[in-house]
Amino acid sequence: MLVLGLETSCDETGVALYDSERGLLADALFSQIDLHRAYGGVVPELASRDHVKRMLPLIRQVLDEAGCVPTEIDAIAYTAGPGLVGALLVGASCAQALAFAWGIPALGVHHMEGHLLAPMLEENPPQFPFVALLVSGGHTQLVQVDGIGQYTLLGESLDDAAGEAFDKTAKMMGLNYPGGPEIARLAEKGVVGRYTFPRPMCDRPGLMFSFSGLKTSALNTWQHSVSAGDDSEQARCDIALAFQQAVVETLTIKCKRALKQAGMKRLVIAGGVSANKALRSSLEKMLGDMKGDVFYARPEFCTDNGAMIAYAGCQRLQAGQHESLAISVQARWPMEQLPPL
Ligand code: KG4
Ligand code: ZN
Repeated sequence: MLVLGLETSCDETGVALYDSERGLLADALFSQIDLHRAYGGVVPELASRDHVKRMLPLIRQVLDEAGCVPTEIDAIAYTAGPGLVGALLVGASCAQALAFAWGIPALGVHHMEGHLLAPMLEENPPQFPFVALLVSGGHTQLVQVDGIGQYTLLGESLDDAAGEAFDKTAKMMGLNYPGGPEIARLAEKGVVGRYTFPRPMCDRPGLMFSFSGLKTSALNTWQHSVSAGDDSEQARCDIALAFQQAVVETLTIKCKRALKQAGMKRLVIAGGVSANKALRSSLEKMLGDMKGDVFYARPEFCTDNGAMIAYAGCQRLQAGQHESLAISVQARWPMEQLPPL
């Protein structure tokens, strides 16, 4: 089955062609980062308008790259939520219009299920069951995954998502959007031990997270440094390192707890923050000590992309799931509401 995947939930237009027999044939991405940078974050209306401009050229591009014609496509998968409503509607209406014109089914995919399954596109994919840490700009969740659509939420953030905390911490130090990669870059030059931030909610049992206090610690430290006359690059690097270490250690502690609670030794990490090298190596060490395994996607498939949507959609379409021509998206959508395969 050849599936065209469309991703438009936020500030990236992603398009891909995935074939159930041949694997990923082509994928293309247009990132709107430059468009939103001047505003320090995503401007929803600008995002929607840009998706409209990029979608059809990107579809033509992947068809060319894969050497395919539209009549070969069996179905279309698009991100139906969660995300920015206007942005989601661009992908949904484009998918439904093409599906109607080409006489093929379309299926709305859950964005976080797309992220969760992205490591399946790699050479050594994880086997079910496993524990997943989903860490993106909008979500921080620990999920027990027994199969596609068999999700049990083990824990999540009470306030900011991990990626959001990276973005806000970067912004308050005057760094560019998105802040995650910027913090990671500066942290490489940070002096270990100059600052130490708290590991929120680690001293009590449970699998919930809270990142807003950590972000405030970083803000206070930066403001103290500036008022003491030090607004240097090195001060930013030292704060970036302390912040990243606190997030990474907190996520590692909670992942270890979740694996113990679920009685598992397989961990999947997905979403934009799973591209973070310090997080990957900390989790690799923890799983190495446990004689377990950690799985993640290549960096470009950790952040938003069309390939994960084409893959997730293909699994559900092959199992016979499809939907009517109605164009409907969901800004909020708990993943546990998805049907099992
Ligand atoms: O999955 P994603 O592309 O979009 C959402 O679904 O939200 O995640 C974007 C988030 C942003 O907050 C970004 O700062 C963060 O992922 N991110 C990173 C890194 N690369 C992206 N955070 C930490 N380290 C990175 N290397
Ligand atoms: Zn995402």
